[in-house]
Amino acid sequence: MSELVKLTIDGRAVEAEKGTLIIEAARQSGIEIPSFCYYEGLTLQAACRMCLVEVEKTPKLQVGCTLPVAEGMIVHTDSPLVKEARKGTLEFLLTNHPLDCPVCDKGGECELQDMVFRYGAGESRFTERKQHVDEKQWSPVVFFDAPRCILCYRCVRVCDEGMGVGALGVSDRGAISEILPNHHDHLECDECGACIDICPVGALTSGSYRYKTRPWEMEHVGTVCTHCADGCKTTLGVRNGQIIRGNNRDRSGINGEFLCIKGRYAFDFVEHPERLQSPMIKAGDKFEPVSWSRAIEVIVAKFSEVKARHGKFGVIGSNHTTNEENFFLAKLARQGLGTNNIDHHRTGDLASVFDALSGREHALATTADLYNAKAILIAGADLSQQHPLLAYQARASFRHHDAHIYAVATGPVREDHYAAATVRVEKGGELAGIESLRDKLKAEAGLVIAFGDAIQGDAVRKLVAFGDSLGVPVKYVCLVDYSNSRGAFDMGVLPRDGGLSIQQMLAARDLDALWVVGANPLGRSTLVSSGAFVVVQDLFMTETAKRADVVLPAASAYEKSGTVTNVCGEVQRLKPAAKVMGAKTDLEIFGLITKELGLNLGIWLPDKVFEEIRKTVHGYNVPLPLIATGGAAVTVPLNGRVAALPGSIQSAGDTLFTSGSLSKYSKVLNSVMEAPGELYRREETAPGPVVKGQQNP
Ligand code: SF4
Ligand code: SF4
Ligand code: SF4
Ligand code: FES
Repeated sequence: MSELVKLTIDGRAVEAEKGTLIIEAARQSGIEIPSFCYYEGLTLQAACRMCLVEVEKTPKLQVGCTLPVAEGMIVHTDSPLVKEARKGTLEFLLTNHPLDCPVCDKGGECELQDMVFRYGAGESRFTERKQHVDEKQWSPVVFFDAPRCILCYRCVRVCDEGMGVGALGVSDRGAISEILPNHHDHLECDECGACIDICPVGALTSGSYRYKTRPWEMEHVGTVCTHCADGCKTTLGVRNGQIIRGNNRDRSGINGEFLCIKGRYAFDFVEHPERLQSPMIKAGDKFEPVSWSRAIEVIVAKFSEVKARHGKFGVIGSNHTTNEENFFLAKLARQGLGTNNIDHHRTGDLASVFDALSGREHALATTADLYNAKAILIAGADLSQQHPLLAYQARASFRHHDAHIYAVATGPVREDHYAAATVRVEKGGELAGIESLRDKLKAEAGLVIAFGDAIQGDAVRKLVAFGDSLGVPVKYVCLVDYSNSRGAFDMGVLPRDGGLSIQQMLAARDLDALWVVGANPLGRSTLVSSGAFVVVQDLFMTETAKRADVVLPAASAYEKSGTVTNVCGEVQRLKPAAKVMGAKTDLEIFGLITKELGLNLGIWLPDKVFEEIRKTVHGYNVPLPLIATGGAAVTVPLNGRVAALPGSIQSAGDTLFTSGSLSKYSKVLNSVMEAPGELYRREETAPGPVVKGQQNP
């Protein structure tokens, strides 16, 4: 334990670790020192002077956010001198600040508004005309209103340090100083909105949320992002059943306040006009809307007939449906339809890594492990594009803990900018690239290896053997693509015991019935059995749905209860935020089909199914209160040999701006101009923003 320092703050005896800043020491003892520019996790700026405190035996007020504690120090945070200074600071901040709170998007959750209310003077001595600058739109999602800016530099720092993008800078000095985007009049960046979220005032506002509502008019529903596998917690602002905003300002969950563009904005697919809202039956080459009971009747009649004559079923599950849905579907396929032909689009080789690590405790890294890691090796994946949260964790570990980052990749990756070593390899050369880092990795105190689909099968076993040979503790993350890819695997949506893989089902000449739940295999492949009866449950009329005989409108993850498991094996709970007329959850659809088939597979309520999962799925006996309160519970991976599975494993190679079929229906994702290839080229040619005379301390 590090050395403790004793001091007094507002008459209270306080102990804090050596090096702790006064502002933090005060907060740890329940004493609030107001601040604007100070922001936990970001570099110190000392720009706003809101945190001034009185320290005895020092000649003038001190900056509480940069001054470390010292033995015997006597600090006053609420003395008349401090109060007067705060009033003065706020008076200055308001010199040019428009008092347009009634129409400002930040009204009700503005830190300046709150500070003025708590610490400000009742009147201002400034009577001069305020300087006006027109509002600017920097991108479809980022608007900037310069007069409201208090130049706290939080946006500049979060973009540079947190996101690793560095798209914002500052021009000039004094009253004309302004935040600038990297292309003067527009932004080209990750469009993550972190700068908007972190802005204490209404200077940066969101194109998708602005002027739609007031914060107190929304319900705030904590759930999990449905795009990539990282499982960011997101708080959806909902009004009248419509999702209006996504953020995680309460920093709860595994992602703290991080969200990428998909988590923050791409919930808009939910209300896309092309959402399916009625069951449909193919009549000729057209679809006819029918009632739910008619659609279920047709499906059940066909399934019963195929089952009775021992025909061939194929069941394709989803990477997005809940654990409860995946579990129930696997049970329904095996016990109800009597088939092992069940699979999902597998995007990372979980089977091989579970097999290679069989029986080892704590060998899989959690999201927090990436942040706490001494060294991280990213192999065969573009982490910033495909796993924005994990990449954010790695960057944070580099900034806060001096972690060594290693990247083995076929092309440029964002980690190149701060990696201790990067190795560029040809596709297939990842293991050799990793081997070339042996001496460096051996010298680390511990290592997390995150690997993508480029490493699969025997290469995974070799990777684990390599990790074992290093003589340091090693943890692994097998990178899979989607919000419940890991859950689909764990719940057994897999071609075990001689079942057919997706590719084998599609290539079979004698398939009688194909049931596709929340997947679009015909977007990439064709169905050989032209006579097969096809049922599709989905949100949209995908290529696969177009081939279906019956299409059922399904609810999205933002419209249902249940749990999902992220790439690190952490289980979190979904809460329904929106309601789309006509759609049903996949679990309810399974329940209706089960009932009509005359099967007894247990109750199909999410909580009941999760109870069963906790009892029967290895490693899922997780604490319910943790999940119920929005926490993430770590599962334990399979213990024992895992048989190899037929079929191929391939990542969809999504980027920051794509997410399989869902992204096609997100207006926001389609409105931004960025594409990954271009982003890298831009970074190479135009490093960072235009910065003139930045006022660094
Ligand atoms: S990447 Fe763009 S949206 Fe995200 S913080 Fe930086 S400037 Fe803002
Ligand atoms: S735009 Fe907002 S976050 Fe950025 S410097 Fe201005 S007030 Fe701070
Ligand atoms: S990192 Fe993944 S889970 Fe997190 S907000 Fe982005 S898409 Fe969603
Ligand atoms: S919070 Fe200390 S100077 Fe801004």
